[in-house]
Amino acid sequence: MNIMKMKMILSSLIGLLLFYCCVIHLVSAQLQVGFYNSTCPQTETIVRQAVQNQFNSDPSITAALLRMHFHDCFVRGCDASILIKSTGSKKSEREAGPNKTVRGYELIDKIKKTLETSCPSTVSCADIITLATRDSVALAGGPNYPIPTGRRDGLTSNIADVNLPGPSLTIPQALQFFTNKGLTLNDMVTLLGAHTVGIAHCKFFQGRLSPVPDKTMDPTLAAQLLKTCTKSSATAFLDQNTSFTIDNEYYREITLRKGILTIDQELALDKSSAPIVTSFAANKDVFSQSFANAMIKMANIDVLVGSAGEIRKNCGVFNQKANRKVVN
Ligand SMILES: *[C@@H]1O[C@H](CO)[C@@H](O)[C@H](O)[C@H]1NC(C)=O
Ligand SMILES: *[C@@H]1O[C@H](CO)[C@@H](O)[C@H](O)[C@H]1NC(C)=O
Ligand SMILES: *[C@@H]1O[C@H](CO)[C@@H](O)[C@H](O)[C@H]1NC(C)=O
Repeated sequence: MNIMKMKMILSSLIGLLLFYCCVIHLVSAQLQVGFYNSTCPQTETIVRQAVQNQFNSDPSITAALLRMHFHDCFVRGCDASILIKSTGSKKSEREAGPNKTVRGYELIDKIKKTLETSCPSTVSCADIITLATRDSVALAGGPNYPIPTGRRDGLTSNIADVNLPGPSLTIPQALQFFTNKGLTLNDMVTLLGAHTVGIAHCKFFQGRLSPVPDKTMDPTLAAQLLKTCTKSSATAFLDQNTSFTIDNEYYREITLRKGILTIDQELALDKSSAPIVTSFAANKDVFSQSFANAMIKMANIDVLVGSAGEIRKNCGVFNQKANRKVVN
């Protein structure tokens, strides 16, 4: 056998080995329900207990976590990049305009601290956000669904990456944001159902009240909101009836022209989304099931798995030992 032939056989052997190593790697590097079963079996119990304690004194934590989770997943994927604190002149995602309504950072930090004591460097901040949101949804009367874990934390957080759908978009414009992330119209209509526990500052819907009242808004609601919004810092519940419950009441209200934000009302008016709204308004179980599915899908957006990213020790800062740039 000549040298050439030996080299060829050797290189195809190496190729085969690489192929198997990587296929196996891909197979094991996936999100799984109970990812921490053996490495940190108390993970989900610790998260649930902390969320329960918080919820008991502040039920608005559900809206806060839903918003945090959504903002995290829609910017660079569900990688906890939203939690990184800015350093000096380097601005992270937390500094972006929409962050002002994101709360719950303290709860995530508290859970992380407990988990670091029990199982150091094991549970990612991205999974903590995901699990805490799931638990807060169930506490607010929404579905309780098993959710896969195994996400890793990202290594970049940059204010310039924040590009989120605003409250006054048309349905086709908003849909573009969701389809870009691999989500469907049905997912979008479902996820906007999170507004069933949401609030909005008056500045985001003031234009629908005056100087010319928006004809698509119920006049009694418009008059009420006008009173609420005399103070510029005032806010309104997006579901004026069951404001702290995850139910289908939001959909029923928007079919009665009681949507607060333009996008809420448009959801019931646009030909594409209206039939979905009608079906959710008519059946709370259909909505509940769809909500669980859409939340699981959203929590899958561009996740880091396997050996990608890192497991942060402190959710607000990248691990020092790796000498990472705070913000790229
Ligand atoms: C973890 O345990 C739960 C409950 O027994 C099981 O459903 C799940 O498949 C397990 N996951 C893994 C990755 O072992
Ligand atoms: C949100 O952004 C503002 C600046 O736009 C910043 O002052 C504030 O600290 C940020 N909030 C959080 C929780 O990081
Ligand atoms: C509020 O929601 C409950 C539960 O969906 C419903 O039964 C009730 O009719 C609603 N009230 C109003 C004023 O819309």
